[in-house]
Amino acid sequence: MSNPSLLILAGDGIGPEVMAEVQRIIDWYGDKRGLAFDVSEDLVGGAAYDVHGVPLHDDTMAKAQGVDAVLLGAVGGPKYDVLDFSVKPERGLLRLRKEMDLFANLRPAQCFDALADFSSLKKDIVAGLDIMIVRELTSGSYFGEPRGIFIENNERVGINTQRYTESEIDRVARAAFELARKRNKKLCSMEKANVMESGILWRDVVTEVHADYEDVELSHMYADNGAMQLVRAPKQFDVILTDNLFGDLLSDCAAMLTGSLGMLPSASLGAPMENGRPKALYEPVHGSAPDIAGQAKANPSACILSFAMALRYSFDQGAEADRLEAAVEKVLADGVRTADLMQADGGTPVSTSEMGSAIIAALDASL
Ligand code: IPM
Ligand code: MG
Repeated sequence: MSNPSLLILAGDGIGPEVMAEVQRIIDWYGDKRGLAFDVSEDLVGGAAYDVHGVPLHDDTMAKAQGVDAVLLGAVGGPKYDVLDFSVKPERGLLRLRKEMDLFANLRPAQCFDALADFSSLKKDIVAGLDIMIVRELTSGSYFGEPRGIFIENNERVGINTQRYTESEIDRVARAAFELARKRNKKLCSMEKANVMESGILWRDVVTEVHADYEDVELSHMYADNGAMQLVRAPKQFDVILTDNLFGDLLSDCAAMLTGSLGMLPSASLGAPMENGRPKALYEPVHGSAPDIAGQAKANPSACILSFAMALRYSFDQGAEADRLEAAVEKVLADGVRTADLMQADGGTPVSTSEMGSAIIAALDASL
């Protein structure tokens, strides 16, 4: 049997630096665990624009459709702010999400014990926090039609459309219920059914799907209250299910609770392919951080933990994902810190590759 295939799209800013560390982790799994991957690389975002004039070349799109999983670094940077909307780096990422039909975006927000002091909230509110946001990623106001800037009555009107079909809600709800089932069996669905018809439909369909998952406790919350509850008492949540735009906001809020954006991974999953694996793209939650790019300061942990999610969700290697997550946690507990984790502790930060080396040493020690 051939090795599973990975396409690495390192992208812009700190993307290539953090991805270089992921590449070392991938090599470690090949050498030490007999888990070899066929890895190819290509361009996305500004890096693709610089070469091809578009943020994602059609050939790259085709490659992404053909591999078992895509690993993405980050896209964007100030250099590209002036570009036309249609070729901005973000459009490359949105095209991947849409054309691969990656409808379920899993964003865990986990507070590492060693970092509980980093949150802007009090330590006891966030210590031990472990929630999973499931954000719908291929529809809603990010993609709904009509959209555009039009002229009406001699003035410009900006239009985006919040639109969800039953089947779009149904499939992401099922993904969220499945996850809740493997966790603490609690799902909270968030919308604005008090003001939006799409929210009423969302609530109805999630309630209908619940009939197939009665072992999971379902609650509903208006998304604005959800935002408030996330900063008031985040540990009341296990899995949160929400739409594309609310999910964008709520997941940033949840991420910041943990105090360390440099630690958070994500998975974007679609329907199963012929080999049974879901279409999948894994990426850190942080952006391209142009202010520190090229200085060896970036924390590679989020990108490495995204590869751990790939092991878990694409390659059915839950035990190896646990091993990698435990290695990252061990390194933090040992006090190894990249610059983004320095506010509270003092001491000298390690570089991106020193962090990678520490994680590899912890992996070696786990054997
Ligand atoms: C995210 C980002 C993206 C989004 C941008 C980069 C298009 O904020 O993944 O949360 O809005 O979805
Ligand atoms: Mg966002």
